[in-house]
Amino acid sequence: MDNNRVYIFDTTLRDGEQVPGCQLNTVEKIQVAKQLELLGVDIIEAGFPISSPGDFKSVVEIGKATTRPIICALTRAVEKDIDVANEALQGIPMERRRIHTGIGTSDSHIKYKFNSNREEIIERAIHAVQYARKYVNDVEFYAEDAGRTDNDYLARVVEAVIKAGATVVNIPDTNGYCLPMDYGAKIKYLYDHVPNIDKAIISTHCHNDLGMATANTMAGVLNGARQVEVTINGIGERAGNTSLEEIVMILKCHKALNIDTNINTTMIYPTSRMVSGLMNMPVQPNKAVVGRNAFAHSSGIHQDGVLKDASTYEIMDPKDVGLDDNSIVLTARSGRAALKYRLSVLGVNVDDEKRIDKIYQKFLRLADQKKEVNDADVLMLAGADTAETHAVRLDYLQVTTGMGVRSVASIGLDISNQKFEAASTGNGPVDAAINALKKIILKKMTLKEFTIQAISKGSNDVGKVHMQVEYNGGVYYGFGANTDIVTASVEAYIDCINKFRD
Ligand code: KIV
Ligand code: ZN
Repeated sequence: MDNNRVYIFDTTLRDGEQVPGCQLNTVEKIQVAKQLELLGVDIIEAGFPISSPGDFKSVVEIGKATTRPIICALTRAVEKDIDVANEALQGIPMERRRIHTGIGTSDSHIKYKFNSNREEIIERAIHAVQYARKYVNDVEFYAEDAGRTDNDYLARVVEAVIKAGATVVNIPDTNGYCLPMDYGAKIKYLYDHVPNIDKAIISTHCHNDLGMATANTMAGVLNGARQVEVTINGIGERAGNTSLEEIVMILKCHKALNIDTNINTTMIYPTSRMVSGLMNMPVQPNKAVVGRNAFAHSSGIHQDGVLKDASTYEIMDPKDVGLDDNSIVLTARSGRAALKYRLSVLGVNVDDEKRIDKIYQKFLRLADQKKEVNDADVLMLAGADTAETHAVRLDYLQVTTGMGVRSVASIGLDISNQKFEAASTGNGPVDAAINALKKIILKKMTLKEFTIQAISKGSNDVGKVHMQVEYNGGVYYGFGANTDIVTASVEAYIDCINKFRD
């Protein structure tokens, strides 16, 4: 093992994709996986094959669509899970197959999840690793909730699974509980107390419940871990996972550590935008490395300093993460080629001329309204073009609203090529429009959550709306984007309706 190299294990498509509302279809997952390959990740965790036919298919298809990274399939320490993971990995060359199996090792997991005891858990862990090794040469073991597992016992587990054939041992802080000094000490403890530890790579997998995922991961690396499990934009359940871009740029900026990754950092920004767009998961403006404001100096003192010499207030060059200042703006005068080029820089390769034509027509309409179309808009347009195939579509919307008057909306819908119209009043323009829509779609639907966000800035900006609508016992997630937020809201509602399973 090269001690000056950290392996990047990307779990955007497994742990990241578990976030409610972020689910991708197989085509979208392939798009992300190809981008991750371009980015240079070493391992892609492509899914949990036994959990659903969709996850199974994703592992198969991602394996076919990529050529370099190791493709990893998650399992519990259960034979059937491992059989199914092995089946999903079949089309991939042996040297690129990895099974990631494991079991909870904290006292809480042992008692409440498994109603078991420490000795039995070690036996199950050993058996799972040995069973997986019959199928593949590369087996990673995870000790779930290792963050809260007693170090002595954890060391015994790690020694036993390495002896059983684990090539990588993952030490997850599943609940994001550890302090960086404790997590670092845990990794050091393992290096000091596990006699066969040099036969495996130790991996970090930190959750961000207390905002310490990146710090914990770095503490792990500084104490010897040489694989980090991360996601793009730090997405993941609850408060998310460790951000790939943060760890990679920490290692790049701190050259004295002498630890490298294989990441092409100029692909970070396009990858971040692609994942955010496909998963409908906005990146917070002040997010480290990829947030909209990450390189925006607004105070006079800072601007003055940066203009004199960027190093005064910039520890990284924006170009190093793929942010090219000169290329951000497109206008109504930009042609198809410029749009296509911009999309490719942002990680969306559109080869189909008909599709680029559709996106271009939408782009022209938006450029008329907005003057300058930025990267986020372009990605939104590329994502929105799939709406054309949906059963329910918005034909028109007219709303009268103001202060001291009740809002009135009339709406036209196209439902499987039939036209419907309705009008209603409401407590505000969005309420009026949704009431009108409900006169056409006579289903018992309840709006559970509704958020509006401007994509960048300015009163002519595109507003993004995320909604959750409850229907027939299920909760559906919808998204809409438009310069008119009432239209964006109705589009988001319709997006939910198009996902209903009756
Ligand atoms: O957080 C966790 O413990 C996990 C494991 C399944 C690796 O995601
Ligand atoms: Zn996790």
